[in-house]
Amino acid sequence: MENSNNQPKKIVYSGIQPTGIITIGNYIGAIDNWLKLQSDYNSIFGIADLHALTVRQNPAEFRARALSFFAQYLAVGIDPAKAIIYFQSHVPEHTELSWLLNCYTYVGEMTRMTQFKDKSKKNEDNINMGLLDYPVLMASDILLYQTDLVPVGIDQKQHLEITRDIATRFNNLYSPTFVVPEAYISKQGEKVYSLQDPTAKMSKSDPDPNASVAIIEDPDSIMRKFKRAVTDCEATVEIREDKPGIMNLLTIMSVMTGESMEALAERYRDGGYAKFKQAVGESVVEKFKPIREEYNRLIQDKAYLMQVAKEGADKARYLARKTVSKVKRKIGLVELK
Ligand code: TRP
Repeated sequence: MENSNNQPKKIVYSGIQPTGIITIGNYIGAIDNWLKLQSDYNSIFGIADLHALTVRQNPAEFRARALSFFAQYLAVGIDPAKAIIYFQSHVPEHTELSWLLNCYTYVGEMTRMTQFKDKSKKNEDNINMGLLDYPVLMASDILLYQTDLVPVGIDQKQHLEITRDIATRFNNLYSPTFVVPEAYISKQGEKVYSLQDPTAKMSKSDPDPNASVAIIEDPDSIMRKFKRAVTDCEATVEIREDKPGIMNLLTIMSVMTGESMEALAERYRDGGYAKFKQAVGESVVEKFKPIREEYNRLIQDKAYLMQVAKEGADKARYLARKTVSKVKRKIGLVELK
């Protein structure tokens, strides 16, 4: 596909692990960006279900959650007519390229990764090979599609760097094979923090259910969580770095309504926190109402979801195969014509 200046469109790839819940933090920090990128780039979104296996999953719950994530992506507005959306496990080239790239990645590079160290500490009884190899699978996701840009959170920056290292190493050993991708780190200020600890990021797998809000959460529950949001012991709504709770609520409401934080701070300044929190909650309920309704409709329509998944996998596979054949040829594997 080409854009108006006849330049081929750049390729954007992003993946999300189907674990925890999709939160309003994911929406504001990432999804909102992708929706904007959809028209200007060739976007590819993968449900990274193979990555999620590095931690033990209950099979029935895992299957339901992966499908739910897929439906949520469609409900927020990822458009299968514009973007490719698919399950990673439906495209076997991911694991195939992963093995090949493993042979160009050093053990020392993997044991040094911060996420490996963190996750090893958290799962001492299950430090499996997948956990160590996680970044190579992620590099494969990205490199398979000759990706130019990868929109990710700052926590994924190291994974992007290793992806670039692996791509460059391969290109230098043989000849240019992979596009060396750039990270597209979302702007600070669009980050959403925990409602219970406004100095920590809102996480999709926070064990405290009051800390994060799901995009498909029911309105009563959303309102309850905002009413309980941790703020500070003053009473004025204002933009100040030392009021992280209030800043977080202002950020959220500003993204929800499109109004500036300044205008909102002005309006709610002296009305008391209770009234402000109520308004923030209502803005979230309002914004996600159509998304929740669309999700509830889609999740009932399994046939449609599977059809979209199949079409996505077919399109992804077509592109992925080209890269894998190229890689195999360069390495010197015998080709079966
Ligand atoms: N590791 C990413 C995360 O935890 C998810 C992911 C898997 C990903 N494959 C990807 C992100 C490819 C970007 C590109 O957030």
